[in-house]
Amino acid sequence: MGKFYVTTPIYYVNAPPHIGHAYTTMAADVVARHRRLAGDDVFFLTGTDEHGQNIERIAKEHGMPEQKYCDMIAAEFKRMWGKLNISNDYFIRTTDERHMRAVQKFFRAIYEAGDIYKGHYEGWYCVRCERFYDEDELDEDKNCPIHGLPVEWVKEENYFFALSKYRDRLLKHIEENPDFIQPESRRNEVLSLLEEGLEDVSISRSTVKWGVPVPIDPSQTIYVWMDALCNYISAIGYGDDEETFKRYWPADLHLIGKEILRFHAIMWPAMLMSAGLPLPRRIFAHGWLTKEGKKLSKTTGNIIDIDGLVERFGVDPVRYFFLREFSFGKDGDYTDQAFITRYNADLANDLGNLLNRTLGLARKHFDSVPHPSRPGEHDDEIRDMAIETHRLSAEKLDRLAFDEALETIWNFVRRLNKYIQQTEPWRLAAEEGTRDRAGTIIYNCLEGLRFISVMIYPFMPETSLKIREQIGLRGEMDEDYSSLESWGRLKPGLPLGEPKPLFPRIKVERATPQPTKPKEEAMITIEDFRKLDLRAAKVLEAERVEGTDRLLKLVVDIGTERRQVVAGIAQSYSPEELVGKTLVLVANLKPAKIRGIESQGMILAAESKEGCAVVILDRDIPPGTRVR
Ligand code: MSP
Repeated sequence: MGKFYVTTPIYYVNAPPHIGHAYTTMAADVVARHRRLAGDDVFFLTGTDEHGQNIERIAKEHGMPEQKYCDMIAAEFKRMWGKLNISNDYFIRTTDERHMRAVQKFFRAIYEAGDIYKGHYEGWYCVRCERFYDEDELDEDKNCPIHGLPVEWVKEENYFFALSKYRDRLLKHIEENPDFIQPESRRNEVLSLLEEGLEDVSISRSTVKWGVPVPIDPSQTIYVWMDALCNYISAIGYGDDEETFKRYWPADLHLIGKEILRFHAIMWPAMLMSAGLPLPRRIFAHGWLTKEGKKLSKTTGNIIDIDGLVERFGVDPVRYFFLREFSFGKDGDYTDQAFITRYNADLANDLGNLLNRTLGLARKHFDSVPHPSRPGEHDDEIRDMAIETHRLSAEKLDRLAFDEALETIWNFVRRLNKYIQQTEPWRLAAEEGTRDRAGTIIYNCLEGLRFISVMIYPFMPETSLKIREQIGLRGEMDEDYSSLESWGRLKPGLPLGEPKPLFPRIKVERATPQPTKPKEEAMITIEDFRKLDLRAAKVLEAERVEGTDRLLKLVVDIGTERRQVVAGIAQSYSPEELVGKTLVLVANLKPAKIRGIESQGMILAAESKEGCAVVILDRDIPPGTRVR
């Protein structure tokens, strides 16, 4: 049994997870599950990048201590990975003590190799990217190429890593190991960067407090990228658990997005060389996603709502879509229409129907998995195709050609549907003389579905198990790829499960509720939004305002004080049902007199013709907590 160590980038906790993070992480999950089925001892790592100037600033903007802020966002990442069925073996956080010790040890190793020196640095720095840019990489207004936000001029005395010294060794390594950087276009990009020459890089910051102290000079912190890259070794015990470290290092695959290629393919390998450690075997940089042709951006509202997609369609269609629709190394454009088309065609029609028809026929004519006692036309072709499909799709998965692997599997799904069409088992089952032939055909379809359940498991684990339950197996993955080496392992006589549709068709008319997009001039910025002081407000008292049937007078606790508020919600709420609830108050609204009563704020509510619904915080939270 081999080992396989696969990693994702660790994500900045400057904001909750978005589709870009999910894309890499879902891909890594498919690889991890695939290698486990292939029999490897897999270590699958993901986590969060929590230090540096950017996080320091954002925590301050939120009015939170850094660690508390990081804990909150790291929890969001964990929740999202749970929702997407990510099977990571470990979740690393760069604020973990163990990680921080490893970073210091790594720094020392490089220092002792004579590759760290003190020098001055001046340059343009993007806090969001946490990196310096050359002037010619910026636009005319000095904005960074990734975020389009202004860079800052930084002038400091820092520690430097002698990166330039490693240029020749790196070039040689990349030339001798054609698979080291993939895809080919990215490899060429790195080669040409190396050919241009390398400059030494600053690896510490004197002005940033939120980081790992430089072991030889605690007045500085280690540059967040050096800190972050170390996660790949600290998570498996570098400097702490030699046995585990030796078992898994070097990584077999670092999966990253194309914008962080230089750090992974130049800085990281050079540092590893300096520290005397082996290099990762493969670095694969995937493309970027856009939506409807435009860059994803929270500020413009052009986002892909993963939570919403999963809640609406289920986790597996989401995993399927993103890996099927795009070629992993290239950029891809998401549209709601493409999602629905794929869902209906590939999932509802092809796979859903195959299972439905097979199970329907099997249960109608046989009460358990029938015996394959009468071979006939097409059977050998189906058997050979099943075995070949597995071989091909596994090989494509090893190359990270997820879309091609799925296409190969779907050719087989469609072939089985055609097989049913060609052989018409419903007709054969109706006559005594051909009933055993019908049983054989249905057996082949069920066995084909067993193959499919194993082959799609890395992509759609839930669906795979649902299929297995229906075709008479247990609802767990108790096989690996070795069970796909031969045909006919499904035992005749197994009781069939309940037929349940896997993917209800999406009706197209209702499928794309277009969110009403505000006009450009009506948009507000995050700064505008932040002007609102929204607070959790616990209702202490409530009563009707005399002489009106619309108004309630509430007394609410907002932590620091009590406020009296008049709210037009009496037709939908009785005073009794509101007492004790925690609502949301706009706390910095100028007081106003309503029916002669002063109202010191406004309660948030949604209003329709039928009545209104107030925003109630759905779990206990201290009065006065900021809502954003
Ligand atoms: N913290 C660094 C990585 C350190 S790794 C030692 C970082 N974090 S990040 O939060 O910005 O996440 C970067 C990753 O998010 C990219 O590498 C990529 O995997 C993913 N994506 C972010 N936006 C994306 C798209 N629009 N499309 C696809 N993936 C993108 O950089």
